[in-house]
Amino acid sequence: MEVDNGLADHLKEKNQDHLLTYWDNLDPKQQARLKKDIEAIDLTELEGFVNRALSPPVKNGHSDNIDDLMKPIPAESLGCATDPCDENVKRWEAMGLEEISHGKIAVVLLAGGQGTRLGVNYPKGMFNVGLPSAKTLYQLQAERILSAEKLAEQKTGRKGTIVWYIMTSEATKKETSDFFDEHNYFGLNRSNVVFFEQFTLPCVDFNKKIILKEKHKIATAPDGNGGLYRALRKHGVLEDMEKRGVEATHVYCVDNILVKMADPVFVGFCREKNADCGAKVVKKSHPDEAVGVVCSVGGVYQVVEYSEISQETAHKCTESGKLMFSEGNICNHFFTLEFLKDVCSPTKEMALHHHVAKKKIPYLDISGATVTPDAVNGVKMEKFVFDVFKFSKQFAVLEVERKDEFSPLKNKDSPQGNSNARTSRWALMHLHHRLIAAAGGAIKNSEGQIITPEDALKQQGQEYPVQVEVSPLISYSGEGLAKLVKGKELTSPVHLH
Ligand code: UD1
Repeated sequence: MEVDNGLADHLKEKNQDHLLTYWDNLDPKQQARLKKDIEAIDLTELEGFVNRALSPPVKNGHSDNIDDLMKPIPAESLGCATDPCDENVKRWEAMGLEEISHGKIAVVLLAGGQGTRLGVNYPKGMFNVGLPSAKTLYQLQAERILSAEKLAEQKTGRKGTIVWYIMTSEATKKETSDFFDEHNYFGLNRSNVVFFEQFTLPCVDFNKKIILKEKHKIATAPDGNGGLYRALRKHGVLEDMEKRGVEATHVYCVDNILVKMADPVFVGFCREKNADCGAKVVKKSHPDEAVGVVCSVGGVYQVVEYSEISQETAHKCTESGKLMFSEGNICNHFFTLEFLKDVCSPTKEMALHHHVAKKKIPYLDISGATVTPDAVNGVKMEKFVFDVFKFSKQFAVLEVERKDEFSPLKNKDSPQGNSNARTSRWALMHLHHRLIAAAGGAIKNSEGQIITPEDALKQQGQEYPVQVEVSPLISYSGEGLAKLVKGKELTSPVHLH
């Protein structure tokens, strides 16, 4: 097939005519594929993205010195939910359950990531961390939705639906939806699980040229979890939310084994604060922990990512010796539907700049052979989900207890490693062990010795000393356990289901 003149001219005009280098060596099917992929790119828009992302010389995605502009979150925007017996927490929880019972709260899962660090070739949500139940992250999350609906019904007498919106990407879409099909949606009503796909962007080299990964294939990457806003708009998801009576969403990332789906406390807190946008945080465990910090930058709220903060700022302390920027982002956000409608508008979306990740991206040499570079040779451009915080008119931050709410699965297992399957198992079993202990139950190991959660703490860094798990279908966060375990000694492995 002859190359289309219009296409060739357009590519030349945009300095991307190298994409046709191998055209004459391609078979008609490959030519058709390449043509289709090129035509799917808005080259003018891409040029704008690339120019903004790569020039002027950028200091980690920000043209100003971000460190000079950072300020901690003001006290009036902060709430604390680290003590479940606190009256505020109980009030927020009741408010959140009320909202859930009216079907006003949806959850939005960001599941388009490629899980590169974890090193699996399937979506992270399908990962089984090795709990007694062998449940995957997706199953735990699905059952927590059912559990939150049940809890709200028990408290209010009304059954509201929590719709689950799942953003996938080219890399995760098919496997994710097949997995849900195979598992019969884990007991959820299939019509209340809505999949939608985020978009991808071509990867470019440092000369702003799109990289070919094969003679007829362009190297692309998902446009970051901030691709959420474009995807919500372009796939009509906001209209779907409106039609179903959703008023606010709890947005979260796939890999936190402790995530509280549609967390009533967080929802109630944000509602009471009349917030359009909110974030849950935990205190950073140490200055160099790989979490973003929620703060204000130049007067607007923002998360400064762990890859973007300088060592010096990350270690800065207050006069009382505490870490100045300690509000660690756990990727749990609250957005009202009105706020989402606003930030998904094309003008607002365009005002969100891409962050640049320099990567080693396989490319073709002049002979057409694939080269895997030793050094970074190009960039992926990503938007971040929290970049819309700057548009918030009423922002609220809720601090929660790390051991109850945050244990992300990021890395491959390794004996000394962190944020891996072992630490995820550990965190979930420790939480469930504490819930059982608080409800008056005890756990014995196989030798008949009682192991308390405090004993277990001494074995942090190793396997959890007993096997203990409570199904979300029994309890959302400890309620109802006393009638099952009070005064009892249960022998490991314990799986209450
Ligand atoms: C993220 C947060 C970081 C926070 C940390 C806590 C962002 C940008 N950063 O970092 O501030 O401290 O979690 O664990 O949110 N995803 C997509 N599409 C993409 C890329 C990612 O949906 O194109 C999803 C992933 O599937 C995941 C979530 O976004 O569910 C977070 O992505 P990940 O790359 O794991 O973020 P971190 O760098 O760990």
